[in-house]
Amino acid sequence: MEETELSGPAGSLRDRIQDRTAVVGIIGLGYVGLPLAIHFGRKGFRVIGFDIDQAKIDCLGRGCSYIKHIPAVPLHDLIDRQRLLPTNDEARLAEADCLIICVPTPLNDEFEPDLTYLLNTTEMIARIIRPGQLVVLESTTYPGTTEEMLQPRLEAGGLKVGRDIFLAFSPEREDPGNRKFDAGNIPKVVGGVTPACLAVAKALYDSITTTVPVSSTRAAELTKLLENTYRSVNIALVNEMKILAHRMGIDLFEVINAAATKPFGFSPFFPGPGLGGHCIPIDPFYLSWKAREFGVETRFIQLAGEINHAMPDYVIDRTVEALAARGRGIAGSRIMQLGIAYKKDIDDDRESPGYVIMKKFLELGAEVVYNDPLIPRLRPTRKFDFNQTSVELTGENLAEFDAVVIVTDHSSYDYRLIVERARLVIDSRNATAGVREGRDNVVLA
Ligand SMILES: NC(=O)c1ccc[n+]([C@@H]2O[C@H](COP(=O)([O-])OP(=O)(O)OC[C@H]3O[C@@H](n4cnc5c(N)ncnc54)[C@H](O)[C@@H]3O)[C@@H](O)[C@H]2O)c1
Repeated sequence: MEETELSGPAGSLRDRIQDRTAVVGIIGLGYVGLPLAIHFGRKGFRVIGFDIDQAKIDCLGRGCSYIKHIPAVPLHDLIDRQRLLPTNDEARLAEADCLIICVPTPLNDEFEPDLTYLLNTTEMIARIIRPGQLVVLESTTYPGTTEEMLQPRLEAGGLKVGRDIFLAFSPEREDPGNRKFDAGNIPKVVGGVTPACLAVAKALYDSITTTVPVSSTRAAELTKLLENTYRSVNIALVNEMKILAHRMGIDLFEVINAAATKPFGFSPFFPGPGLGGHCIPIDPFYLSWKAREFGVETRFIQLAGEINHAMPDYVIDRTVEALAARGRGIAGSRIMQLGIAYKKDIDDDRESPGYVIMKKFLELGAEVVYNDPLIPRLRPTRKFDFNQTSVELTGENLAEFDAVVIVTDHSSYDYRLIVERARLVIDSRNATAGVREGRDNVVLA
């Protein structure tokens, strides 16, 4: 893409970004915003971190991190040197030259986009916006959001996007807990409303990583949804394949690993107990909702959603069968569920299939306790309220349960011990590979 000549407010903002005198404001300091704020701070920018959650601001003010995989050390250092200023005072955002929005974009009860957080944020920015500011949306959303929802609200006071202020979309690709890739080496896709918007936003992200400019905010918005729909569809494929492979007596993990040796045309995806997290179970529905406006039915998204949604039931069915084969009914059985987090080694329980599985076991009359080293207490969520605390996992108590069900394959678990001591292990993650040979107490689910 050709370089855009910049002059006026765009040129001076670009220059201040390049010499690091521009101030960066991050709105929403969660799983996405907090690491991003730290990253900009470490790259030499002064960062204002804004969140409406007072508890988070207080915690950050003391230099502590409330997300387990984000270490407190760099955070503490940035706060100490006043390179990162956590605040819930919206007026402070007027000091920022670049405002990056990282607020939640969930679904409502009808599985439709809930843009409440985003609209509240946009209204707030509209109150403080001044000429020469760049606004970038990073929250995942449907194509058209930046131009249809943000642009008119930001221009309502008379400032014009592309001339006085600049507006872009750049999807977040954060993978919490991934030690290989973070904001510093994950390429950023960037789309601007105008060429000047793109050039300024690109300059901002060029200062922390490599950038991939695209021709519009819509293209950037759809890029994110394609990435996550691709994951959802491929996970559904291997989930369905897993059920077939079990019936055929074939180990699907062995098959996937063998297929992955093909040097082209195959990317491995692995089955599990169902989808979780803030992205894969949610984002494809943003696309299918918008697709309806264009008269298109997104059948792949629908089917993948159905298959992935049914996976907790498969784990339950396999457990019920395995218990029955040992002469036990599910009602009254004592079950230890290992893991609530939606994926290993993180403390994020949002949309986790672990909750669905626990609820279904309880409905069937089982007695369920759980262990998750990263989630010591189950807080009430919008859909669940179990009021449980994580039970200690020991060599002794493992043998007390009728079944130990592996839902999250945290690295800290001693799978050899689990397989040795538990009467029955239901493994939905292939976590016992390498330690289950010769044993008849492990059932893959
Ligand atoms: N978590 C991920 O791995 C991930 C990855 C890629 C994209 N995303 C997307 O990034 C966005 C943010 O996700 P997240 O996981 O960081 O969410 P999160 O819930 O962890 O954090 C969002 C933060 O925004 C704050 N907030 C809400 N309304 C606000 C407002 N009006 N002003 C200021 N702060 C406000 C909340 O208090 C919270 O701290 C979502 O669109 C999500 O889909 C998330």
